[in-house]
Amino acid sequence: MKRQLANYKELAALARETAQLLRSLRARGVEVLPGELREEPPPRKTTAEVRLEEPPTDLGREGLLEHYRKQALECRRCPLASGRRNVVFGDGSSRARVMFIGEGPGSQEDERGLPFVGRAGQLLSRMLAAAGIDRKEVYITNIVKCRPPLNRDPSVEENAACRPFLNRQLELIAPQIVVCLGRVSATSLLPEAVNLGAVRGTVHKLGSAELLVMYHPAYLLRTPSRKNVAWQDIQLLVHRMVAQGILPRPPEPWWTLA
Ligand code: URA
Repeated sequence: MKRQLANYKELAALARETAQLLRSLRARGVEVLPGELREEPPPRKTTAEVRLEEPPTDLGREGLLEHYRKQALECRRCPLASGRRNVVFGDGSSRARVMFIGEGPGSQEDERGLPFVGRAGQLLSRMLAAAGIDRKEVYITNIVKCRPPLNRDPSVEENAACRPFLNRQLELIAPQIVVCLGRVSATSLLPEAVNLGAVRGTVHKLGSAELLVMYHPAYLLRTPSRKNVAWQDIQLLVHRMVAQGILPRPPEPWWTLA
């Protein structure tokens, strides 16, 4: 009996250690586990079965964005609809040359119907301002437009159900640079599931746009030691914006830091 109890205790301790290890690996952006623990990523769902209502006439860029926003407000395609207070469609300039894509609204965003307005959003605003990027000049949205409960990752089905809205935003705004904020966003837009540390710092492609990946600002709030790496990512963004003629070249020595 005593031996059995010891076994239960050992098992519980092992379970706690494993959970802790998984959490710390995830926090460092490691998603693929070694050996027998490795899980195959879920199959990617196509979005072909989820159709949006198309407008009868061409409404122009602003009109079309508004047309799809109104549809998103009514959307009940996935279970996230039942828990939302507001749909968070997107915010910013419809003429933006840079589009930031996060993962899904948090509590504050759900309450206000706007993306990145909570603590993570405030950090994002400060990072943009420090780099000389006007938040009003970019467009900000998320992979899913309704808040996942307890801020969990959106499921493959929720992601697929919402994807047509993101696709229309990308088509209509046609940004020159797309910035994925965090692993969920990067995994949705790059062909493979990603280890964030491995895909940040390089320029990828999304159609004719450049795609960059940065740490999610919520992760930076939890892990301030990564802020220096995040700053390098912001510098890469500024370099690409200058290269694409979106921003003028900033003065030395800022420029030479990258
Ligand atoms: N985190 C996100 O991914 N998106 C938001 O809009 C807010 C927090």
